[in-house]
Amino acid sequence: MSENALLETHDVRVRYHDTHDALRNINLTFCPGEVTALIGPSGCGKSTFLRCLNLMNREIPHCHIDGEIDYHGQNINTKKQNLYDVRRNIGMVFQSPNPFRKSIYDNIAFAPRQHGIKDRARLDEIVEQSLRRAALWDEVKDVLNKSAYALSGGQRQRLCIARTLAMNPEVVLMDEPCSALDPISTHAIEETIGAIKAEGICVIIVTHNIEQAARISDKTAFFLLGDCIEWNTTEVIFNNPHDQRTKDYLTGRFG
Ligand SMILES: Nc1ncnc2c1ncn2[C@@H]1O[C@H](COP(=O)(O)OP(=O)(O)OP(=O)(O)O)[C@@H](O)[C@H]1O
Ligand SMILES: [Mg+2]
Repeated sequence: MSENALLETHDVRVRYHDTHDALRNINLTFCPGEVTALIGPSGCGKSTFLRCLNLMNREIPHCHIDGEIDYHGQNINTKKQNLYDVRRNIGMVFQSPNPFRKSIYDNIAFAPRQHGIKDRARLDEIVEQSLRRAALWDEVKDVLNKSAYALSGGQRQRLCIARTLAMNPEVVLMDEPCSALDPISTHAIEETIGAIKAEGICVIIVTHNIEQAARISDKTAFFLLGDCIEWNTTEVIFNNPHDQRTKDYLTGRFG
């Protein structure tokens, strides 16, 4: 394990249906309090990689994952790994906001209740804290019993982030969380990412928005056709990339 690493992959390779290498030899390191952007053209394996990190690919029967995924220095890519534990600590936010068909309050309280927290005062506290962390509290504090579906798209996405934060994860994975949102909602999510990073959370975000990657990330990994071509500080990737293909992607020559 590299020093300070929270999550690290060693030679991760993913195949769908035995035939097709969706990813090859992915070696990346993620640290607490750091935002990493995963960028690259459509179909290069960004979502596949993100789904490896909390073992979501396990749900896809024809998907095979080789290699090591070390979390706190322990390989979690093993059959006996408890998926529940992994996903509590490594949360995920998807492209289209997908709240439960429940009240705003119950969306946040759902997972803590599943984990045995029944005390109403404690749940109230978790709901408020999570909504505050996702910068949604002021907008919804008087309508907590309303359906999550009464919220706008941007608010729903912040609710999904709050729902993830309710379990106090150490890592938050985000797959194009702003691609369906307007610029103001996007800005709100970017602020939230900055705030949770400051709390020490490790954020790994897939984005097609190059400017967004430059604005919010500390590190950037560039993927192409299943390979990680280059991984470095965002500063180096954007100002002085070592690989011509990274340069071409960033200057809009493809993808
Ligand atoms: N469930 C699946 N079954 C079979 N093949 C899949 C599956 N999911 C992804 N793939 C294949 O794996 C490769 C990588 O796909 P992936 O969705 O990870 O790319 P991506 O970089 O996230 O693309 P996008 O930017 O369009 O979201 C593609 O060739 C895709 O067709
Ligand atoms: Mg994707």
